[in-house]
Amino acid sequence: MSEHLTVVDHPLVQHKLTLMRDKGTSTAGFRRLLREITQLLAYEITREMPLTTTTIETPMEDMEAPILAGKKLALVSILRAGNGMLDGVLELIPSARVGFVGLYRDEETLQPVQYYFKAPEGLKDRIVIAVDPMLATGNSSAAAIDLLKEAGANDIRFLCLLAAPEGVERMKEAHPDVPIVTASLDRELNDKGYIMPGLGDAGDRMFGTK
Ligand code: URA
Repeated sequence: MSEHLTVVDHPLVQHKLTLMRDKGTSTAGFRRLLREITQLLAYEITREMPLTTTTIETPMEDMEAPILAGKKLALVSILRAGNGMLDGVLELIPSARVGFVGLYRDEETLQPVQYYFKAPEGLKDRIVIAVDPMLATGNSSAAAIDLLKEAGANDIRFLCLLAAPEGVERMKEAHPDVPIVTASLDRELNDKGYIMPGLGDAGDRMFGTK
């Protein structure tokens, strides 16, 4: 993808995002909307997947028809909120392999520390889509991408629901080769690291925790 940041302004995406932001939306509704929006965003992030052709027989005649080229996909959830975006992508690309990255923030150093990492084989030959609904400071996203690169990935895209300008800058600085697709570039981070106007804690809202 050529752009570093793509904001998907499709009316369906924007409508569903407004419903998600509304604090009155139920946990079940939030989860369903996240799955639906993710599907629409996945459509955009896979737009430049390479195609080749294959010969098929339609009921009318032989045809040289487009088909996805060999490059397989790996979907990587940044725990825990990334899990809410898995099903939306998997409904479009059921054969994608799935990995997980878990990071927590060390309270003293404030740096992200890895507690879990499991990725599909052959990352270097795959298109990797890392998913996390909220690109806030960008510290954990950048660290997750570091881990994926260390594991061999070299064609990575980042899919999120909301992005803060601070997070986009951090990612651009650390990983200029990783395009970001989002439904909205929000105004700013507040002093607690929450996206404003945002939608609150995405993990809590999708899993019903507090
Ligand atoms: N993570 C969230 O869930 N929400 C924010 O606003 C920022 C980070």
